Amino acid sequence: MTTVGILTGGGDCPGLNAVIRAVVRTGAKHGFDAIGIRDGWHGLVAGNVEPLTDYSVTGILPKGGTILGTSRTNPFKNEADVQRLRDNIRKFGIDAIVAIGGEDTLGVANKLSKMGIPVVGVPKTIDNDVGATDYTFGFDTAVAIVTEAIDRLHTTAESHHRVMVVEVMGRHAGWIATVAGIAGGADEILIPEIPFDLDEVTHHLRARYERGKKFSIVVVAEGAQPEGMAEAIAQSARTDEFGHVTLGGVGNFLRDELEKRLDMEVRVTVLGHIQRGGSPTAHDRVLATRFGVAAADLVKEKDFGKMVALRGDSIVAVPLEEAVANLKTVNMDLYEIASIFYGG
Ligand code: F6P
Repeated sequence: MTTVGILTGGGDCPGLNAVIRAVVRTGAKHGFDAIGIRDGWHGLVAGNVEPLTDYSVTGILPKGGTILGTSRTNPFKNEADVQRLRDNIRKFGIDAIVAIGGEDTLGVANKLSKMGIPVVGVPKTIDNDVGATDYTFGFDTAVAIVTEAIDRLHTTAESHHRVMVVEVMGRHAGWIATVAGIAGGADEILIPEIPFDLDEVTHHLRARYERGKKFSIVVVAEGAQPEGMAEAIAQSARTDEFGHVTLGGVGNFLRDELEKRLDMEVRVTVLGHIQRGGSPTAHDRVLATRFGVAAADLVKEKDFGKMVALRGDSIVAVPLEEAVANLKTVNMDLYEIASIFYGG
């Protein structure tokens, strides 16, 4: 009997439960037992696991978050933790690990794979920035939430003749800002990939005002920064185990700077974790399910050290090494489309 350990690491996102369900259900068809590892890599270090049966995954498909819990634990911060992790893999008879996560979780998976531990990766993040896959699940849901928020902000912005700044997630890549910004008809989209010029933003907003459009929507990714600023604006200098600070504050920064430059009232909405919570869209449920089925199939084939990925409309297996080599930043052709509408 093959025993598959499943874990979810990093920031949660809608669709994680759909993957867990798909791995357990497909695994059962392949004759596997499943073990849930609690709170990402932390569960494997601490030996915190639980059996996962067909019954434990009943009804979780539409549920947001993760029934397994998550953490930003990096076992490679400490030699002894890597040893504990290896000991627990042996202790619980885990033959393969399905690690569902973003750049950090998959980076750990890749290192473990190189040490001979049988791992399969599944890419998740609302940020959509995992390399080697066209899309991650969670992204479509986040885009839907942000688009709805922009639609709502539009009506009130127009009524009050205000500039509304909407701060969205996106640490290294501005996918959410770009796609939801295009979908919501944003008048300016600021992303981490391109440092922004405050004078240019002001120019666009003023041009709109002068054309009689006395309101504007600016969508800014939390990781976006003005030209000349060394680092993105953070809520605190505290870092997680992968060295990331908690971002946040660029929306307020923009409000202050734009109010100095424009004769308009500027307000900020920070969408924060609203973007990550709640039920996945149908699109994300299907993508997550396809990823989970493909991950269980890779375990069956003993094709380890791979990550399932979406390429075009097909699910393929790519080396974990390739997936973690580069972050997938925003496609500039798409960003160009957004910018056609600035100042109009
Ligand atoms: O990685 C996804 C993400 O949502 C980023 O956009 C954001 O910077 C980060 O997670 C926030 O994580 P946390 O909820 O741990 O603060």
